Amino acid sequence: MIRARITGTGSYVPEKVLTNLDIEKFLDTNDEWIRARTGISERHIAADGEQTSDLATRAAERAMEMAGVSADEIDLIVVGTITGDYPWPATACVVQANLGAKNAGAFDVSAACSGFLYALSCAVDRVEAGRAQKVLVIGAEILSRIVNWEDRNTCILFGDAAGAVIVEAGEGDRGILSTHLHADGTQLELLYQPGFGTKNLPSVEALKDKSYFLEMQGNEVFKVAVRSMASVAKIALEANGMTAEDVDLFIPHQANIRILNATAKKIGLKDEQVYINVDRFGNTSGATIPLALDEANRAGRIKEGDILLLDAFGGGFTWAATLLRW
Ligand code: UT7
Repeated sequence: MIRARITGTGSYVPEKVLTNLDIEKFLDTNDEWIRARTGISERHIAADGEQTSDLATRAAERAMEMAGVSADEIDLIVVGTITGDYPWPATACVVQANLGAKNAGAFDVSAACSGFLYALSCAVDRVEAGRAQKVLVIGAEILSRIVNWEDRNTCILFGDAAGAVIVEAGEGDRGILSTHLHADGTQLELLYQPGFGTKNLPSVEALKDKSYFLEMQGNEVFKVAVRSMASVAKIALEANGMTAEDVDLFIPHQANIRILNATAKKIGLKDEQVYINVDRFGNTSGATIPLALDEANRAGRIKEGDILLLDAFGGGFTWAATLLRW
């Protein structure tokens, strides 16, 4: 059996850091509230002129370097993003051009904060079917450009980043063990961006009242996020005959420290099994999991043979889990 395996990780965050204290200066909020309610202290913000594809390309280059894979060896590029450079074409195509990956197909996946795990599942399926040998999977976002910086309920949460992995065909028991995707579109307005798609075209009114920005009913989303992430994590463990004790590292979507802790508790995980970096980057949507994975990997936190549980929840709603042996 062909097994899809992650052979390289990379990430990139923009240079500019925006702290809670910086936000206090222009918004009716404070560092204490943000840290207590979200666990976030600071986030990185893309510079003027810096695009999602730029972040994605830099993360990709680092993953390729670690894997020892050159641009022309890549068969496919999949980018999970909801803040692409353009509505279309895909940001994956811009990355393909930036890298000079002349033998690669390229497309984006829109699954909000679950985008990276959805993108990864496409790579795994192609590789396991024998239709691709080396796939570049990226989660990249510039959320700072779609949040309303006058809305204290949302803007304090988000940041900009990119993370990438190289997925290669291999054999043996190391690699992706299973991926589980779920969605429920019946409550999409609890977390979405109303404009500008075909439903809400650009208009002077929308620009004036800022009704095209990301909107979220935080309280409602919080409850569904914990329930869904815990449930899909248990499904992934059960599918592989494992329990919470088998997990060496749990890398959840970094939305809010309270969501992470509540989810980990529901799954039955101990604090030392959970990777947390939301304090330094905030919620970077589709980028949180590959960014955390790369950090953990480069810090030597992951050893060969370790069991990793990746778990995400986001707009749609979408949620997903991936279990893998490193
Ligand atoms: O990426 C996946 C999707 N996103 C998420 O998973 C995020 C899910 N939700 C959350 O993380 C939390 O719901 C928030 C952090 C957004 C909000 O935390 P909360 O504990 O649910 O607070 P709340 O919305 O119930 O608001 C409590 C109070 C309110 O004041 P009143 O009505 O009680 O007087 C808010 O107006 O806190 C107020 N508040 C703030 N105060 C200071 C809301 N935002 C702020 C703020 N600074 N930034």
